[in-house]
Amino acid sequence: TGLITLDDGYANTGSCSSAITFIDGENGILRYRGVPIEDLAVNSSFIETAELLIFGELPDEEERAEFRSLLTENSALHQDMGKHFDGFPTNAHPMSILSAMISALQSHDLPEHQFTDANGFREAAASLIAKTRTIAAASYKSHVGQPIIYPRYDLNYAENFLHMMFSVPYRDYEATPEEAHALNMFLVLHADHEQNCSTSTVRMVASSGANLYASVSAGVNALWGPLHGGANMQVIEMLERIRQGAMTTRDYVARVKDRKSGAKLMGFGHRVYRNFDPRARILKDAADRLLDAMHVTDPLLDIARELEQVALADDYFVSRRLYPNVDFYSGIILRAIGIPVDMFTVMFAIGRTPGWIAHWKEVTDNPRQRIYRPRQVYTGPELSPWVPRDER
Ligand code: CMC
Repeated sequence: TGLITLDDGYANTGSCSSAITFIDGENGILRYRGVPIEDLAVNSSFIETAELLIFGELPDEEERAEFRSLLTENSALHQDMGKHFDGFPTNAHPMSILSAMISALQSHDLPEHQFTDANGFREAAASLIAKTRTIAAASYKSHVGQPIIYPRYDLNYAENFLHMMFSVPYRDYEATPEEAHALNMFLVLHADHEQNCSTSTVRMVASSGANLYASVSAGVNALWGPLHGGANMQVIEMLERIRQGAMTTRDYVARVKDRKSGAKLMGFGHRVYRNFDPRARILKDAADRLLDAMHVTDPLLDIARELEQVALADDYFVSRRLYPNVDFYSGIILRAIGIPVDMFTVMFAIGRTPGWIAHWKEVTDNPRQRIYRPRQVYTGPELSPWVPRDER
């Protein structure tokens, strides 16, 4: 067995080889299959980004059309899935509904043996991407006590999501081009991020040979935590507390630095990015532009900008190389298009689904894949005597 080297939080451990996403944390570079995130954010639809991640190349016209129709065919939930929604309490967290429903989806979708061949896999991938969105919107509808809205076949991915969220019977919601564009960009920016906690979870589960749905559902649960995808909700809660006058931005920063409260500056810091997170830069500009185009103001955006300024002028953050991450400005965009705060982490999950699928495929396609099985440094007692029950 030899001596085990502990690498706390796997900060310096490469867990796999991967050809999907490249990150250079020193220089703030992020590329999907070699394509810079800045180009994808402006030009790419979420679905072609998904195809790029999963199949390795930007799709041509024919491939786009084919995948689009697979998504359309697979966007509605099986009638019986609807019954599951009735079983959740109305205040259930949408992430708990999403992970449970993705697990359940396995039993309604293709039989397991069919999605290991190329066509079956394509269909399962399309089904998962389409239905994650449908489940998310349906969980919102059951939470607010409104009937579930079916997808429309003439809308693109982002427009369709907003339709399923905000249409009511006899009144269809038409997203504005600005809203659809902003949501598309949000999803593109979240689509993959190499070995983050949820993606590593998906790969770990996949390495045992578990099916796509089981692996992705595990990813949803890993994303839920406040240090990962849950941070986007926490950022808005933090900004709201400041807005409601509970404290100033300086008070908040002082509280974080004091460390006694355990409070963190949510939406700040990243394991890999040490100078800036390119996604945060794109989202900060996009938030500005979206609010301008919609002719609305959001006091939380001003507070976020001020908080960033105060933190970046403070040695605590500078010396630790902490900068805004993807979650710092994304919530401002989601708020502007009307997404409720408790859906924010689900929005992250919808965006990350193509990445999880791409990583599941990479693991499953590897004929030399070994099961993930890290070691540990044991710190318990060396040898304990068995004590009979009546002597304890
Ligand atoms: N606020 C205050 N201090 C911080 C923060 C923060 N947001 N982030 C890191 N630090 C401090 C940390 O206390 C430590 O200080 P010291 O060395 O004195 O003990 C130092 O900076 C290094 O931090 P770390 O916790 O070792 O860093 P990590 O790489 O283990 O954690 C992180 C990365 C993102 C979990 C962490 O920065 C964090 O908790 N940030 C807030 C939550 C957040 O925004 N998460 C979203 C991450 S990006 C999208 C995603 O992955 O979902």
